[in-house]
Amino acid sequence: EGFDVVVVGSCMTDLVSQAPRLPKAGETIHGHKFFIGFGGKGANQCVQAARLGARTTMVCKVGKDFFGDNYIQNFKNNGVSTEFVGQTDKAATGAASIIVNDAGENAIVIVAGANMMLGDKELQGAGPAMGGAKVLICQLEISPETSLQALRMAQERQVKTIFNPAPAIADLDPDFYSRSDVFCCNESEAELLTGVAVSSVEDAGRVGAELLRRGCGSVIVTLGPQGCVVLSSQDPAPRHVATAPVTALDTTGAGDSFIGALAFYMARYPTMPLEEMASRANRVAAVSVQGVGTQTSYPYRKDLPQELF
Ligand code: RIB
Ligand code: NA
Repeated sequence: EGFDVVVVGSCMTDLVSQAPRLPKAGETIHGHKFFIGFGGKGANQCVQAARLGARTTMVCKVGKDFFGDNYIQNFKNNGVSTEFVGQTDKAATGAASIIVNDAGENAIVIVAGANMMLGDKELQGAGPAMGGAKVLICQLEISPETSLQALRMAQERQVKTIFNPAPAIADLDPDFYSRSDVFCCNESEAELLTGVAVSSVEDAGRVGAELLRRGCGSVIVTLGPQGCVVLSSQDPAPRHVATAPVTALDTTGAGDSFIGALAFYMARYPTMPLEEMASRANRVAAVSVQGVGTQTSYPYRKDLPQELF
């Protein structure tokens, strides 16, 4: 049998400093804690889907270095297939320097490195596995051409696609919209793509409608503690999916937890309404914001209420 979820995307080593606030340009401040974690939006989404019970594979590239070797072991530890994880000696494993302030907000610089060397050759190699899969997810931490090609390959094979335009680029190729069965972004990404500020649920509905008009099957705009707004071509009226309030410790990677969970539900419960999937994915992501780090805070199926399954 095939994979539930294929992720074509990024791996990053997260170098995280916790500090009272984010430093200004030219400023040095004392932080209170440093740790190294496994991150990268693609890998984060894949690991969350795997922890909920999806059969997953990751199509990605890491460096032939210590961080790359470690990352491959991390996939194995999480039950993610590493058949399509390549290693290159031409670039270093991707790295993300992250600062998290006491409010749980973050600032991130990523150096994609080896992630940018994922291309056509690797996609062709993974083509047969893609064919038997249920859902494919892409983001924008690898070359956009590679992401777009992966989405095309998936749709040609009747595989449902989730596209997460993160980090957002202003001049996104319009084909990304038509190649997205589900286009899932946060408020700042939606703002960058549409030029419309998003500061309320109503605004999210408006930008969602604009993104839908560009050709996506469905659109989800995530709103952090406000949950998300869901729209689809069959049901274009924006629906607000609220989420229960929690105390956030570290919101880094919460969007990835949401998307990984969404992919799990799309693969395993294909007839479930998208709003219901989004509501459950909100609950999974809410667990992640209550723990420090990205993958370190992602729940396993056994830690979640059984009504989510
Ligand atoms: O979305 C969170 C992720 O973004 C982090 O893990 C970091 O690696 C950056 O890519
Ligand atoms: Na977290």
